[in-house]
Amino acid sequence: MGSRLVLSDTVAAMGSGARAAARAAFVGLCLLSAAGCRRAEGAERVDGSEVFRTACARCHGTDGAGGPPSLGGRAAPRNFRDAAFQASRTDDQLHAAIRSGTGTGMPAFAAALGEEQIAAVVRVVRSFDPRGGHP
Ligand code: HEC
Repeated sequence: MGSRLVLSDTVAAMGSGARAAARAAFVGLCLLSAAGCRRAEGAERVDGSEVFRTACARCHGTDGAGGPPSLGGRAAPRNFRDAAFQASRTDDQLHAAIRSGTGTGMPAFAAALGEEQIAAVVRVVRSFDPRGGHP
């Protein structure tokens, strides 16, 4: 967020025409390259718990305990407080499931989250491990 504050300070110091042009250029850059925007954000420390709260908690619960199955007999959102589940997956497998989805109710997040954000949210998933897990 720091860089965005700096940007708006700089932009505020310009005349209104220059300000509009600068804003258009910045938005244009983001539209041209979503990956570029993600990388710019990734340069700062990604807050995995913020990602979890906004993108995952509605299905997996704010406490990671999972939720009821969606309609249509699909799988229930995973309970991350289940030690057996935690033990049965590597970090890479969790990362892949979040990036690509499972095809059984867990959506793919590749379009919404950058690699750093996925890695950060994998750490949050691990933090629910009742055995103490990773930090
Ligand atoms: C629309 C509801 C929904 C949302 C939103 C959602 N999930 Fe899931 N997730 C599921 C369901 C349902 C499953 C169980 C799928 C299965 O067992 O095949 C699941 C399974 C998982 C698994 C286990 C995959 C495995 O290896 O069995 C992980 C890890 C996971 N979700 C992480 C996340 C993270 C992190 C987010 C947020 C970025 C998220 N989920 C958002 C519904 C959701």
